[in-house]
Amino acid sequence: MDLEFIRKQFPSLKNGYTFMDNAGGSQILGTAVKNIQDYYLNYNVQLGASYDVSANAGKALLKSTEKVAQFINASDPKEVIMGASSTMLLRILSICISHSWKAGDEIIITNTDHEANVSCWRDLENKGVKIKIWKVDPNSFELELNELSNLLSNQTKLVAVTHCSNVLGSINPIKQIAQIVHEAGALICVDGVAFAPHRKVDVQELDVDFYVFSWYKVYGPHLAVMYGKLPLLIGMPGINHNFFKAEDVPYKFQPGNYNFELTYSLKAIPEYLEELYDHHFEGNKFSEVEKHDASFELIAEYEAQLAQELLSYLNSVHEIRIIGNTSAASNKRVPTISFIHKNLKSSEIVEKVDKDKIGIRFGDFYAKQLIKDLDLEHCNGVVRVSLVHYNTLEEVAKLIESFKKIF
Ligand SMILES: Cc1ncc(COP(=O)(O)O)c(C=O)c1O
Repeated sequence: MDLEFIRKQFPSLKNGYTFMDNAGGSQILGTAVKNIQDYYLNYNVQLGASYDVSANAGKALLKSTEKVAQFINASDPKEVIMGASSTMLLRILSICISHSWKAGDEIIITNTDHEANVSCWRDLENKGVKIKIWKVDPNSFELELNELSNLLSNQTKLVAVTHCSNVLGSINPIKQIAQIVHEAGALICVDGVAFAPHRKVDVQELDVDFYVFSWYKVYGPHLAVMYGKLPLLIGMPGINHNFFKAEDVPYKFQPGNYNFELTYSLKAIPEYLEELYDHHFEGNKFSEVEKHDASFELIAEYEAQLAQELLSYLNSVHEIRIIGNTSAASNKRVPTISFIHKNLKSSEIVEKVDKDKIGIRFGDFYAKQLIKDLDLEHCNGVVRVSLVHYNTLEEVAKLIESFKKIF
């Protein structure tokens, strides 16, 4: 990985700060910022009119949505719904999909998920929907598949599960989970927020029904996307004006104007992965999609090196317990690494590290049930270090030096 090339694409990295709270929000690509400006300067009119600028704005936005559809391998750009945040999109989904649900229907949620994929489903208890909780094994920190099979029933409508825990960093086998869920006749809704910055999202390969993530953690702006299988989207009511028809997707799920300038900026992210490929590999034979795949593989390999450095230090400190998988294997985890210390509160550790101009964080990260069930509230949650591919081994060494002053 040519870190100099990579870091140049993120102008804010020049300010000298060490950003290791990337699971909270990543730095943004310079090209995404430039695209936002381009939109304002060239296309800033209302869509749908017959004059040139409006027609061109419509075409530019369609192109950006098509690029997003290609990026996640949706079979149709209509399956791509834009929204202000993942939380809002999941809330919209829960409202729309539950119209036909009745008392006694069941939903399975996990105790590892961020509240975005929890509260919106839990609130359906008000109409008599039963909530079952798929609990993580507190020793292995894994969601066991046989537990899921035990929870599924003829009444199960939907399983809401995260692709990757934003605390544990562990990657769940979503393809396998989707198969189990579908065999039971239910649907699966996946929170990909903590996964998408690190690995390729391929919604068709995973065979998920709904998939959500937030661009501000994937090197873009504060905007989120929800994928849904087209027949399912057409088959449920929307939340927009009454005159929208069943087949008016994605519009019926995007009340009012969606954010044009931020949507336009998104093409910067797949394009960055294409440039990353071009910069690192000889020849130019690959298609855009193959370039995304190859770049994500490169990222996964490099991130495992970063994780390995940090984990081997943390594993060597007797008083520290990693909350998650202790191995750096890139098929098992992303470099979002959480831990607690036997004698120090998580808040005390982070406040000391702050002084070294390194941004890490403590708390529950809105994975409230997980922190409660693992009995970690008394230490103010976990210390979380969340790395991405623009972090360097030197930065990890600097963090370890900072930790060494404390432990
Ligand atoms: C795993 C996970 N899911 C969902 C969210 C919510 O994302 P948004 O802020 O776009 O609603 C977050 C935000 O931290 C997250 O980490």
